[in-house]
Amino acid sequence: MNVLLVEDKSGMRDMLTRVLSREGYEVTACEDGRQAMDHLLGTRFDMVLTDLKMPGADGFEVLRAARAADAEIPVVVMTAHGSIEAAVSAMRDGAFDFITKPFDPDHLTLLLEKAANSRRMAVENRVLKRTARHQGAPDLIGESGALAIVREQVARVANTDTTVLLTGESGTGKELFAQLVHASSPRKDGPFIAVNCAAVPAELLESEFFGHEKGAFTGAEGRRIGQFELAQGGTIFLDEIGDMDLVLQAKLLRVLQEGCVTRVGGGTVIPLDVRVVAATNQDLPQRVQQGRFREDLYYRLSGFPILIPPLREREGDPALLAAHFVARYAREMGRPVSGFSAEALAQVSAYDWPGNVRELQNCVERSVILATGDTIAQIDVAASPGRVSQNSGPHIPLDRPLQEVAADAQSHYETACIRRALDLTGGNKTRAAEVLGVSYKTLLSKIKDYNIEPSAMPTP
Ligand SMILES: Nc1ncnc2c1ncn2[C@@H]1O[C@H](COP(=O)(O)OP(=O)(O)OP(=O)(O)O)[C@@H](O)[C@H]1O
Ligand SMILES: [Mg+2]
Repeated sequence: MNVLLVEDKSGMRDMLTRVLSREGYEVTACEDGRQAMDHLLGTRFDMVLTDLKMPGADGFEVLRAARAADAEIPVVVMTAHGSIEAAVSAMRDGAFDFITKPFDPDHLTLLLEKAANSRRMAVENRVLKRTARHQGAPDLIGESGALAIVREQVARVANTDTTVLLTGESGTGKELFAQLVHASSPRKDGPFIAVNCAAVPAELLESEFFGHEKGAFTGAEGRRIGQFELAQGGTIFLDEIGDMDLVLQAKLLRVLQEGCVTRVGGGTVIPLDVRVVAATNQDLPQRVQQGRFREDLYYRLSGFPILIPPLREREGDPALLAAHFVARYAREMGRPVSGFSAEALAQVSAYDWPGNVRELQNCVERSVILATGDTIAQIDVAASPGRVSQNSGPHIPLDRPLQEVAADAQSHYETACIRRALDLTGGNKTRAAEVLGVSYKTLLSKIKDYNIEPSAMPTP
């Protein structure tokens, strides 16, 4: 558990750092609110312990910044004797609890343990909520040939226990296909447990996955059953696996190879009867090359890889999905919208949906809200975030000689390619040149010509 400690008085700060470190917390100590807010921008903390009255940004600002960064983070405020009102108003702003100075260190550690537990419960609840939604076969819309191939693959692999790796762009429906694998398998009456490997802080992830025994670490007041055990007899869905922490990757690999888990701080080996489905929108082979994903785990997971095609490759499906979502949102919002004008339908079919089904779904939802009659006259794809982030082209004025336009376009795209290559290679120009298929000299001169600044180059 890492704690952000904010206290302006150095003596108090040092004392608290000592006490907390002794209890096993990782402490980041700051002397004012400003510093704390900077840390909150870049780091994920499990708890915040802050003084209320400080010069400059005070504890209230820290509290707000912390809760903006993470709505579930417990913030404990410290207040001088006699300013209980401030503490009460901090509680109203969402503080977890307060403690009045001077206090007994034991009192403080007890309070922090309570906060740590609440943190764990919040993570656990989020996971359970995800699970509850996932029962039964999902409503998967689409009749295209591309989708038929995927359905066929799912049908074949479902009644085995083989690990399935779902890959595909964001918003293509990987989560729905994971549910389909489960619902089509002999395990369908067992649990389907979905864990988002990217959302859980690395330090919590191990106990989240494998559970822990009472007293395994500070704050482990009782035994905790991990997600793998909860999935016994069913399927565990490891979502966003490409973003998983490297240390945990090693632990996960061991569990998969041995087919059993041991709870953190426990000795008993628990055999697992769990089917694993993993998903990612990352290019895993590329992450393996970059050293961010273990190669052995990659091979272990990709027993049966299934690529979910992007929506633009599913002919006819956008229109079916649009009709499905119109009916759904009209019902949910109680609006008398029943379909699309011919023009809107043509737009749905012509657009390339860079954000895939999720983008289409959002677009239809927006259109239903905006519709004035019973049909949607036109859809506003330009407002889609998918358009901006994934498909924004350069703004090159076209009212000029062809050669100039071509030169601008060339420099725009070459700059983008070079930036990407430098990103991939961690700024190594020799390797970037190889990736780009040009000589080192050519790359250097282009970097100079296009003014690609070293500061704009990502560091590894
Ligand atoms: N074929 C489909 N039929 C109906 N709804 C779908 C279909 N595919 C996706 N959806 C819906 O689109 C949204 C995005 O799907 P999902 O969350 O499964 O995507 P994803 O591939 O996991 O994306 P990401 O990589 O961003 O996590 C969800 O609301 C899902 O219900
Ligand atoms: Mg997903």
